[in-house]
Amino acid sequence: MKDGNPSTIYLKNYTQSNFLIEKTDLKFELNDEISFVTSNLVVRKNLHVPNVDPTLMLHGNKNLQLLWIEVDGVRLEDDSFHKTDTDLSIPNMPDSFELSIKVSIKPQENTTMMGLYRSRTMFCTQCEAEGFRSITYFLDRPDVMSEYTTTIVADSQRYPILLSNGNLIDEGTLKDGKHYAIWNDPHKKPSYLFALVAGSLSFVEDSFKTMSGRNVALKIFVEEKDLDKCTYAMDALKRSMRWDEEKYGREYDLDIFMIVAVDDFNMGAMENKGLNIFNTSAVLVNPEISTDAAFQRVEAIVAHEYFHNWSGNRVTCRDWFQLSLKEGFTVFRDAQFSSDMNSSVVKRIEDVNFLRDHQFAEDSGPMAHSVQPDSYIEINNFYTVTIYEKGAEVVGMYHTLLGEDKFREATDLYFNRHDGSAATVEDFVVAMEDVSGRNLNQFRRWYSQAGTPVVTVKSHYDAANRSYRLDFSQNCPDTPNQKNKKPFLIPIKLGLVSPDGEDIGLNIDRENEVIFELSEINDSISFDNIDSRPVPSLLRGFSAPVKLVYEYSKEELSHLASHDSDGFSRWDAGNRLYNMVLLDYVDSLSKGHEPLKDDYVISVFSSILDDQTIEPAVAALMLQIPSDKALYGLLSKIDPHYVSKARKFARVMLNEALNENIYSKYNQLCFDKAFLPSAEQIGERSLKNTLLSYIVLDKSNGLKTVYDQFQSATNMTDKTSALNLLINHDKDDTYASSALADFYCQYKNENLVVNLWLQLQATNQQPGGLSRVQSLMEHESFTIKNPNKVRSLIGSFASGNHFNFHDKLGTGYEFLGEQILKLNTLNPQVAARLVTPLTRWSDYEEPYANLMKKQLKVIKASPGLVSDVYEVVTKSL
Ligand code: ARG
Ligand code: ZN
Repeated sequence: MKDGNPSTIYLKNYTQSNFLIEKTDLKFELNDEISFVTSNLVVRKNLHVPNVDPTLMLHGNKNLQLLWIEVDGVRLEDDSFHKTDTDLSIPNMPDSFELSIKVSIKPQENTTMMGLYRSRTMFCTQCEAEGFRSITYFLDRPDVMSEYTTTIVADSQRYPILLSNGNLIDEGTLKDGKHYAIWNDPHKKPSYLFALVAGSLSFVEDSFKTMSGRNVALKIFVEEKDLDKCTYAMDALKRSMRWDEEKYGREYDLDIFMIVAVDDFNMGAMENKGLNIFNTSAVLVNPEISTDAAFQRVEAIVAHEYFHNWSGNRVTCRDWFQLSLKEGFTVFRDAQFSSDMNSSVVKRIEDVNFLRDHQFAEDSGPMAHSVQPDSYIEINNFYTVTIYEKGAEVVGMYHTLLGEDKFREATDLYFNRHDGSAATVEDFVVAMEDVSGRNLNQFRRWYSQAGTPVVTVKSHYDAANRSYRLDFSQNCPDTPNQKNKKPFLIPIKLGLVSPDGEDIGLNIDRENEVIFELSEINDSISFDNIDSRPVPSLLRGFSAPVKLVYEYSKEELSHLASHDSDGFSRWDAGNRLYNMVLLDYVDSLSKGHEPLKDDYVISVFSSILDDQTIEPAVAALMLQIPSDKALYGLLSKIDPHYVSKARKFARVMLNEALNENIYSKYNQLCFDKAFLPSAEQIGERSLKNTLLSYIVLDKSNGLKTVYDQFQSATNMTDKTSALNLLINHDKDDTYASSALADFYCQYKNENLVVNLWLQLQATNQQPGGLSRVQSLMEHESFTIKNPNKVRSLIGSFASGNHFNFHDKLGTGYEFLGEQILKLNTLNPQVAARLVTPLTRWSDYEEPYANLMKKQLKVIKASPGLVSDVYEVVTKSL
């Protein structure tokens, strides 16, 4: 437990390590009770550091039982080193020496899922960010890179599979029913990329021929019962490998690439060199048990972890303040990949929705931090949407500013220049500068200034001179410890749409689109030869992570929603219109007035329903009104109940106005095709289920139609979409309870489906949500020890059941507080994540705000808080 007085770590205090570890030889003896780790390290002083302090300070953890230390073969006396709960220091070390250390650990008691721990019947590891120090004493920092050789010894019956990074160099049997395997990873790496797995695992196998003609063995290891769920991940892996060669010229560099699926995992997956470890939820899918969303998540995460082999492993991070260097860049790369594999417009809309709902919220709250933070207490709290998703947007802006070719030249330069080393964000910027010849000083502010810039635009049309001008201004709100931000360099892609819906040629080359680089606080752009007042299409493709304010009329938004040639902006226009109307509804409802029907929204919906050319997946997105979370981001104070009522009013209005069109389109989509997780079919199912979400509101026949789909569905997307609608709308419980029971009965042996079943119930907005969640916590399928279960039930309730979580007595908050404290020592990372919904207290109306704050204070006052929870709670109060 990392309690006491957690201290703050600052970027400005970074210094190089005084010692380096050239070679790391590890031996693991795995047992049920006590396991042993013996390390042999070739250590030398860091010649780059002047006047090296000769004291070697190794990171450790209080779960390590130190057995002995030897320097160059000589056992150290107890008084010749100093040990605390967090480190081990040995004074007066020579310039180079061999250090051997033996410790014992108890992986079976490790519930934090960091370091070496047990998941069901196997041993596995998670070392990023600082888990290696709970395996042995080490220089557990990413700028210390070493060549690893790992020997694993374990019972051959129970742990027939023994894996670590790199290539298998030896294996054999030993006495007492044990066996061993020795792995060597020729690539130097930081300790956070170390991995080990031991268990009784089955695998599927394939191979990949790289662009230079080498054969790479590909293996996915799973429990035997899951062998039928690996095909898609394997396919996604091969597609990722090919894509990274074609798009970035990056080839894989070992003879084997392995993925292991484990059930107990704090995050999605981990890019350990040659041995990726995945949460089962991020790798296992098949047509019988998986939704389309699950297939797409697997494709994206497999690609993400694979892409880290270059952006993260070959070129790693100097320190954890550089985290976005690998994460932002890799998210950008996986988004490009998904975009190439599926519909690029759909991918962009989904990503922007996610960014607005989560990252914008983080950026305007107490945990706001820049893409390169300048301090942290617990690094595990900084695996955030800002580091990942905003970081990816920042990389995307280079792509926009430099263009495809120069961007590729710059990434080549970056990879080649820093291959085999630990780099910084600055190194990445310099590569972009060197190739483009541009000075990116102002652009660097995207890394250091937190907060979402607001860009306000005004237009002026001069009919007499046929000229049109757009005036831009930018400002960025204050964030914790950051006031008076300087202006950003913001690339704004834009076009002008004529009254008849055509793009207008903007310059002598008659280009339809330009990138306006806003760098001042105020600036303008003018266009000549504009025959009539156009409608500006601003921030096409969401070219920068900003909030764009322009006073569009409803007519203009409807016009763009039907005519914008940029698919993203077309959707965004519709979305703006819906936001405008819904905010108006929230306002009316809070004043006790009945909202009014809105003909603009109805007519946009109607034209999308009639449009035979629009991609079904895009149509689906355009037929979805903004989420509760999206609206929260636009309100100065949130009352979740009015938001929920406003959305309900809009959906009922749309269904009443367009019932026939909705039904007829739905029926057109109810055909049976052999299931494929293809972009085309996913789009059709998305549209079909979006339509069903209106049909359910139809008083005469809605629930029956939904129930019919639930019963006749031949895929998990159609089935769970229907189930979700039933439990949320079937007030008299004609179908819902029995559908839930049938569903559980059918899938109770499929853990991932059971988690979805828990999640659907956790987000059921009908009254009584908290007691439903409380009773599910007693259900046979739930355990607080498994992070996926906690996320499905407790996490989904707190972040997705707005109606029940925010009750006026604060019982939802109290419940969450209790769970956080239960998890505090059990699993600090999971506990700290659960605090997020409470950190947003200042966004809410009373009585919610005060009750949320009160709960944060209760947590803060509890004894023995781990640094993870401590940091989030104290910073948000
Ligand atoms: N690097 C992993 C990824 O691919 C995430 C690891 C996060 N681990 C943690 N303990 N926070 O994004
Ligand atoms: Zn990553």
